[in-house]
Amino acid sequence: MKQTYIREISKYVGQEVVIKGWLYNIRYSGKLMFPQIRDGSGIIQGVVFKKAVSETVWKGFESLTQESSIIVKGKPREDSRAPGGFELDISDLEIVQIAEPYPITPKEHGVEFLMDHRHLWIRSKRQHAILRIRAEVIRAIRDFFDENDFVLCDTPIFTPAACEGTTTLFECNYFDDAKAYLTQSGQLYNEATAMAFGKVYCFGPTFRAEKSKTRRHLTEFWMVEPEIAYATLDDIMELAENFITHIVTRVLERRSEELRVLERDTSKLEKIVPPFPRLQYDDAARMLKEAGLAFEYGSDFGSPDETFLSSQYDKPVMIHRYPAQVKAFYMEVDPERPDLALCVDVLAPEGYGEIIGGGQRMASLEMLRKRIAEHNLPESAFDWYLDLRKYGSVPHAGFGMGVERCVAWLCGIEHVRETIPFPRMLYRLRP
Ligand code: 4AD
Ligand code: MG
Repeated sequence: MKQTYIREISKYVGQEVVIKGWLYNIRYSGKLMFPQIRDGSGIIQGVVFKKAVSETVWKGFESLTQESSIIVKGKPREDSRAPGGFELDISDLEIVQIAEPYPITPKEHGVEFLMDHRHLWIRSKRQHAILRIRAEVIRAIRDFFDENDFVLCDTPIFTPAACEGTTTLFECNYFDDAKAYLTQSGQLYNEATAMAFGKVYCFGPTFRAEKSKTRRHLTEFWMVEPEIAYATLDDIMELAENFITHIVTRVLERRSEELRVLERDTSKLEKIVPPFPRLQYDDAARMLKEAGLAFEYGSDFGSPDETFLSSQYDKPVMIHRYPAQVKAFYMEVDPERPDLALCVDVLAPEGYGEIIGGGQRMASLEMLRKRIAEHNLPESAFDWYLDLRKYGSVPHAGFGMGVERCVAWLCGIEHVRETIPFPRMLYRLRP
């Protein structure tokens, strides 16, 4: 018989189905047993009635341990009291493997223990919900750009030079004594493809040798980066607003069950509609001062600053025009205030902090050369990048969004480590 997935069980009420999965949990009650079975698509509660099954099946269920792999036959029935709304009247059991004593039991475990067992932890309800939301966010991202005529142009992971400052580069040996660095951002290459295709995006893993041990930092994370020729800072702020709204709407529509498992307050997400508040760096700095935070004008915002600012609004806030000196070398300057960069950081509400960083790129060859020198970057590594300013240079802009930070916000969870199947952090390279 063909396998039926639990997610589709409502279509099979009263019909015999086969479910292939694992034992999540089991309760005994005299002549009845209530095994909870998961199959990756969902969890269903089964009912085994001693009189309705053979002796072998009954004994089989008695022998099951948590996470034993099993194939069961039964008929689903609607039951409003059951988690998920359906129960399965079980008639047959095939044991695929009796699992060894499972390390993750329903009791409380410490986070380090769970992280060491991440390969198993991802089977539990909460992790399952978060990772399904992640998958939905990724799908929504791709749909948004594909449907709005952006061309996907993947950028390399091995790169010869820094994009986001030299302090967070992962270096590796490339052939013949050459050094390569794992990409921090696809942006520089995006600028080249944008000059070829107009509207582009890249989407892939990026790396930062961040020594930060915060709830927002991974050393390997996924970033999606759109880039548009002839676009200005204002254009990409509008894009960011529509983009975030699209993702939130999609997750609310399609992942309501997962949000429920996470006990997410969805009324907060329902408020995410354009326009988003826009705030100049100068005004944000003033707010921090007035709130008494130890922040110095002219520096970049630290995590506590971001947490404060993003708690002040019930929508993402777009902070623009930071002092050029704290931002990357490629930022265009504000013609009215050359000390400011035409850049934007989007901070998610509820204290989540920065989820998007981007802006307008420097279009002038001469100015860009100066910047590369000021940042002590080797001009030879950027010769191809400078070419983009020689052959039909135009104003252009784009941004990058970190998937994990976006997912952490949407899920309403504390730490980004749970938003990726196998997180890589300062002190975590396994499993
Ligand atoms: O602000 P960032 O560094 O911007 C760039 O890399 C630009 N080149 C992007 C562009 O304009 N095309 O990083 C962008 C986003 C951040 O807002 C954050 O969401 C995420 O990437 N991010 C991280 N996520 C997890 N762990 C880290 N260590 C991250 N660093 C940045
Ligand atoms: Mg940033």
